[in-house]
Amino acid sequence: MSFSTDDTVSPATGSGHLPVLLRETLDLLAPRAGCEQFTVLDGTFGGGGHTRALLQLDPAVRVVALDRDPAARPRAEALEAEFGDRFEFHHINFSDLGELDTGDFHGALFDFGLSSFQLDTEERGFSFRYDAPVDMRMDPESGISAAEFLETADEEALVRAVRNYGEESRWRRVVKAILAARGTGALQRTQSLAALITEAVGPTPRGRKAVHPATRTFQGIRVELNDELSAIERGLPAAFDRLLPEGILAAISFHSLEDRIVKRFCRKMAGRPEHARDNRTLDEREVRATMVSTRPISPGEAEIAQNPRSRSARLRALRKLSQN
Ligand SMILES: C[S@@+](CC[C@H](N)C(=O)[O-])C[C@H]1O[C@@H](n2cnc3c(N)ncnc32)[C@H](O)[C@@H]1O
Repeated sequence: MSFSTDDTVSPATGSGHLPVLLRETLDLLAPRAGCEQFTVLDGTFGGGGHTRALLQLDPAVRVVALDRDPAARPRAEALEAEFGDRFEFHHINFSDLGELDTGDFHGALFDFGLSSFQLDTEERGFSFRYDAPVDMRMDPESGISAAEFLETADEEALVRAVRNYGEESRWRRVVKAILAARGTGALQRTQSLAALITEAVGPTPRGRKAVHPATRTFQGIRVELNDELSAIERGLPAAFDRLLPEGILAAISFHSLEDRIVKRFCRKMAGRPEHARDNRTLDEREVRATMVSTRPISPGEAEIAQNPRSRSARLRALRKLSQN
């Protein structure tokens, strides 16, 4: 789960995290009949919702789970106690998967972005629903907080966050306001930062969807601070390389920037043009997988009604060819 545009202002869903597109994910990653051991990588363990369902699906399933957030560890320990050596957890960034010696996988899953645990924990500073220090680190044990980033980053990094990753059309005003607020304390707390951005953005233009004016900039800062898109660029090929023949790679995105990376990766592996300007001939493109479907799978109305945060989810999947 990640930054559907108004995640930060929608009502809290409580303390749990509902796994998104669960049935569709299980359909893709279920072991074949008669399979004795079926190892799945869960690159984004979070609350362990997908992992638990996979482990409950079939005793042949073993899950290797990763999360860069150390707060996921206690939830992982509960699964270790319940499922023993069918489950293992590693506190690492999925982009470092290549460094992990866990063998190969029959399936791999990524469910990008933030969990409800992260969004709904006040002191993590992801949401302006609460007044909290502006932290926003997925791994609070490493790197600098978002407040420090805002106080010290060069203008280029601020523009990347607000314009490129936040897709804020009034990015110039927002960057200017952030630079002007340095040293005043306004960049330190989620609600003072949200107020500053709201003032800089001004009234919502007619015709634009009414989300809180600070939503886009908050998401952009978070993506920049956690280097989220580069992690996806590195994590997808790392997981694909470890897939066994016929293995499935499934990825759930919540935002067009994430989905574009997944879509291009799927098309590249399937030997299709990666984008409109890709004019390589068929001979120049390598085919290593087939796309499970050309269009992404989205949640149905019932899931969106039960879990509004699922509404922007897009699931894409690849099946690795038997000869690679
Ligand atoms: C949407 S949640 C996953 C929820 C999970 N599928 C479930 O059902 O409970 C995303 C999780 O991925 C983690 N995450 C995001 N980017 C990551 C990365 N680059 N490496 C490892 N974990 C990451 C986040 O910390 C968060 O806990």
